Amino acid sequence: MSAFKRVGVIGSGAMGRGIAQLFASAGVEVLLHDNRGEAIDQALAYNSDLLERAVAKGRLDADALAPTLARMQPAYSLEALAGCDLLIEAIVENLEAKQALFRSLERLVAADAVLASNTSSLSISLIASTCERPQQVAGFHFFNPVPLMKIVEVVRGERTDPQVIERLAALAEEAGHFAAVTPDSPGFLVNHAGRAYGPEALRILAEGIATPAQIDRILKDSLGFPMGPFELFDLMGLDVSHAVMESVHGQFYQDPRYAPSALVPARLASGLLGRKTGQGFYTYVNGKALPEEPVAPAPVMIERPFWLDSRDAAVRDQVAAVLARAGAVLEVGEQPGPQAICLVTPLGEDASSLIARSQLPPQRTLALETFAGFDTRRVLMRQPALDPQLLAQARQALGADGVPVEVINDSPGFIAQRVLAGIVNLGCEIAQRRIAAPAVLDRAVRLALGYPHGPLEFGDHFGPQKIVRILGALHDLYQEPRYRLSPWLRRRVQLGLPLTTPEEGA
Ligand code: NAI
Repeated sequence: MSAFKRVGVIGSGAMGRGIAQLFASAGVEVLLHDNRGEAIDQALAYNSDLLERAVAKGRLDADALAPTLARMQPAYSLEALAGCDLLIEAIVENLEAKQALFRSLERLVAADAVLASNTSSLSISLIASTCERPQQVAGFHFFNPVPLMKIVEVVRGERTDPQVIERLAALAEEAGHFAAVTPDSPGFLVNHAGRAYGPEALRILAEGIATPAQIDRILKDSLGFPMGPFELFDLMGLDVSHAVMESVHGQFYQDPRYAPSALVPARLASGLLGRKTGQGFYTYVNGKALPEEPVAPAPVMIERPFWLDSRDAAVRDQVAAVLARAGAVLEVGEQPGPQAICLVTPLGEDASSLIARSQLPPQRTLALETFAGFDTRRVLMRQPALDPQLLAQARQALGADGVPVEVINDSPGFIAQRVLAGIVNLGCEIAQRRIAAPAVLDRAVRLALGYPHGPLEFGDHFGPQKIVRILGALHDLYQEPRYRLSPWLRRRVQLGLPLTTPEEGA
């Protein structure tokens, strides 16, 4: 038996129509309402079109079409929703509008009916605070497009009845969606966990370390993200993404971990919102990003030997193999010879700090990323004292096997290290605050954000000790609490446990 018999969806926009389609397809009766009658008709027409095309493509059984469509009916007045035992609100993102709607619904429906909000940024407890029956109110936060994004956050307000949460989770699972149950906290689970990727990329851009296209390429090719952060900003709209950043930052009382970027307001004022305005971090023509013309560096003679700081045999073999293809020599001495181009492989530290600490010659020392991406996209990091001629030789030699080479400016943790460390640290903080159990967090992030691994899995994959070293170096260099270590992460490293270990032990 279904957890609910009849679902009323209020708001027939992009989200409402998707929610209606999801449940109608799962066999539940749905009534669709909107305060604009034409929006209801458009949503029903849209869904019917979508399902007909699914039949044509063989993705939906032809026999299932008519009954599914029949399960979605219009409700042109709010009163028509009186018999629903679940009401899901997907109207405009405005607290007063949602509170007023919930008050009207409460007067209309049975006392045990559940009122759910699809809000992505408003507190569920705040929406419920003007209701007579706050125990019947919960968050039911879907992702766009609803039928394809197989996850929903089931948000527990401070007064929500646990049975309401159970029933919503059961309904979600019936429809084939993963129900990530989470307390009412800023950004809930997913929009909180997503505050490390894009914001750190903006921080890297703001410091002039690399271009948006370089950052996107490096993160996709070395860590396996399906989209770069700047591609994502352009897809979502920078206005929408920035609103989430500001909202989460404000709700955490300006915690610097969540600081939005000062680069953004001028871009918003200039209409650089992304795909929808034709220009964002990339320029779009007919919906396609214009490719950047790669500037091939002029070929140079490789005149110098190379020296590598790493004593790790695997790293030395990899580097030696590439240099051999370029006809260059890798020195074997503990100290660099007088002519050598010195390659250093910092973890977390920037090139300048490592050079100073190791007393290497600044004019001929640059950093090579070996933490991730060596075989897919090689990253070289210059520093202001480096001789450009020697950089050109290093760039050519280290690209001799055809792996593309990116040259970036000095940065603690290059690009991949620091972005990854931020994602892991924030995931640990979410686990520490009991916003989600480790397995729920990792699965929710994979499903909703498309990351190749969840934050804790990512940390365990690359090694929690390395993550701690990277964060320690970022924290030392910037002297900012933004990079402070989560206690969850520190304790598991101290105890030699995987990051996925729950507080109560495995
Ligand atoms: P939308 O603008 O596409 O649709 C909203 C619909 O609600 C419109 O058709 C409008 O006429 C109707 N409406 C507004 N006030 C109403 C009221 N008082 N009573 C009845 N109908 C009313 O918006 P969208 O994108 O579908 O978002 C809806 C909600 O879902 C918002 O709270 C949004 O924050 C949330 N959300 C949106 C996501 C997205 O990717 N678009 C993702 C997750 C949540």
